[in-house]
Amino acid sequence: MTRSFEKVGVVGLGTMGAGIAEVFARAGLTVVGVEADHEALGRGRSNLESSTGRALAKGRLSEAEQAEILGRVTLTTSLEDLADADLVVEAIPEIMDFKRTLFTELDRICKSSAVLATNTSSLSVTEIAATTGRPGRVVGMHFFNPAPVMKLVEVVHTVVTEDGLAEEVAALARRLGKTPVSVGDRAGFVVNRLLLTYLNHAAVMLENGLATREGIDTAMKLGVGVPMGPFALLDLIGLDTSYEVMCVLFQETRDRRHAPAPILRELVTAGLLGRKSGAGFYNGEAPPTPPAAGKPTVTSVAVLGEGAEEFAARLGDAGFKATTPQAATRADAGATEDATEDADVVVALSHTPVIELAARLPHPRRLVGLHLVGDKLAEVASTVLTSPEATCAVEGLVKIVGRVPVHCKDRAEFVVDALLYPYLNDAVRMYDSGYAGMDDIDAAMKLGCGYPAGPFETIDTLGLETVRDGLRALYAEYRDPAFAPAPLLDQLVTAGVRSIRGLS
Ligand SMILES: NC(=O)c1ccc[n+]([C@@H]2O[C@H](COP(=O)([O-])OP(=O)(O)OC[C@H]3O[C@@H](n4cnc5c(N)ncnc54)[C@H](O)[C@@H]3O)[C@@H](O)[C@H]2O)c1
Repeated sequence: MTRSFEKVGVVGLGTMGAGIAEVFARAGLTVVGVEADHEALGRGRSNLESSTGRALAKGRLSEAEQAEILGRVTLTTSLEDLADADLVVEAIPEIMDFKRTLFTELDRICKSSAVLATNTSSLSVTEIAATTGRPGRVVGMHFFNPAPVMKLVEVVHTVVTEDGLAEEVAALARRLGKTPVSVGDRAGFVVNRLLLTYLNHAAVMLENGLATREGIDTAMKLGVGVPMGPFALLDLIGLDTSYEVMCVLFQETRDRRHAPAPILRELVTAGLLGRKSGAGFYNGEAPPTPPAAGKPTVTSVAVLGEGAEEFAARLGDAGFKATTPQAATRADAGATEDATEDADVVVALSHTPVIELAARLPHPRRLVGLHLVGDKLAEVASTVLTSPEATCAVEGLVKIVGRVPVHCKDRAEFVVDALLYPYLNDAVRMYDSGYAGMDDIDAAMKLGCGYPAGPFETIDTLGLETVRDGLRALYAEYRDPAFAPAPLLDQLVTAGVRSIRGLS
């Protein structure tokens, strides 16, 4: 028999709990909101009033509707008032001891058929469930911030969750106007596990000096179309929260990639927590736009590599003497050098490091690698031999052809692909482990992060072989096992499969 959820409790009316209570009340459910004490209850009430007040001011609610919604919420400081609730959602701070104590109490107070749910972002739902005498009726219901706006809810089941319960909770989420995705109980679930791992990787890249924080942010926004670059997003999420989630992930996996980047710990220790403290990776302002590169002082440019003709033609139109020596391969480096002898700079269009080519030229200081990404971005890679003047000149040339230059070191896959491919690989491993379905993972990343496409859609767009080969190059460069292509991806490429989503 399907459960009916009509009376729900929400414990903790802070950032998340107040929003969750509002979501339930808007859907017509009776809500009991519980806070720790009277002072916190006052804050909870004003959280609720100001959130619905904003909707009223924007014309999304009438006064009568606001009153009706607030009228469905009873506020209390006594957990005993949850005795006849059908469902209780907990949204108290992310501290296991607090949650365990609370669930022991809820288990004692709530009727035996009641479902107990946690809004935890990273803690083990299984461990929380185990503190109760009804572990089969304890699930995760992970809402996103702000709960009234964000459509995604991760419904987390454990190995002991009663059959059918996760689907009943998902049906409730749909009734609330949300899109539920079903996930197993692993630290970070889908969104935080994939997102924070990628953000942490960006922080490691920054520490390694691959590019600047502005460069990495710009590259990801323009190259992938994500709404915010990783450092602006880390500042928004909060560096302390991000650090904690990484610690929980690392504790579970012992995977080096989940070890929080030391720069996160340093910033957090210094009290630089991101927007909430006024400064983090950025100092409270919007990320500055990188300074415009000056007009290049060079007059002649040799362009090598795939797409050289078109690039050179654009430079020619802009008044430069641009040549495209054909002998751009390593084996023909001598011929390349002859052909580039007169050029002030040599641009090697490439998606792989250019140091080998540079090392064979008598004037390697002039050679700069250039990776065109999409139609807006150009990664400008300088090798250990490249002169600052040549790099600067190429940044200027890139602007002339209407692209934004992002300077980086000459490393496998440069910036965008080096961040993107491991994220895609993580998603494939996640799917292959049976943890969540492809459609759910795609939906979670689109709805939870505002990404234009989910990871599996992105893999299909880029091509499975391109992603696999990019991962192989990253693995060869960094020797990080996490960059080795997921066996499933490798096998699909070998089998000639064109669409990974065709499997789902
Ligand atoms: N903030 C986010 O963006 C976000 C997003 C998704 C999930 N979460 C998760 O939601 C939970 C709550 O996070 P938050 O950001 O809303 O925290 P918060 O600090 O804003 O709110 C927590 C509230 O719980 C109350 N509280 C503490 N102990 C209590 C108790 N024993 N009984 C009743 N109330 C109690 C506090 O007074 C406070 O109002 C955490 O598990 C967090 O990981 C947070």
